Amino acid sequence: MLARATAAAWLAVACGAAAQQASPPAPAFAAPNLTPAGVRALAASCAPCHGTDGHAEPGSTVASLAARPPGDIAGSMALYREGRKPATVMQQISKGFRDDELEALDAYFARQKQRGDAPK
Ligand code: HEC
Repeated sequence: MLARATAAAWLAVACGAAAQQASPPAPAFAAPNLTPAGVRALAASCAPCHGTDGHAEPGSTVASLAARPPGDIAGSMALYREGRKPATVMQQISKGFRDDELEALDAYFARQKQRGDAPK
């Protein structure tokens, strides 16, 4: 009888302690997307195909994104996302971005200087 009461008391204490435990903080392995570091990280996801900072390698069949007029990239991405611009991969890729992320990417690439050695 005493043992059962003791066990019940321990259970109550243990449950109370578990209930009071604060939830763990969100993982901090990536910068939020709309910070400067976050936008650089989003732009880096384009680099394997469009080149670092949007400068496609000379001779690449994939277009450069650097120094495009403002609105150009966000506009194309929105068309891809809606399935209104034909594509092999960009319709899928564009679905991963919200409007504000596309606008931030657009501004990031528009700020990049054009290079003489890269396709336009
Ligand atoms: C896996 C390779 C790949 C990645 C990664 C990629 N793209 Fe593309 N992108 C392409 C290809 C290929 C095309 C040509 C359309 C097609 O076939 O999908 C293209 C076309 C585009 C165009 C249209 C260019 C034009 O002149 O019409 C834009 C804008 C664009 N991509 C933006 C981006 C952005 C922004 C990212 C990163 C968020 C990105 N792409 C990531 C391969 C890629």
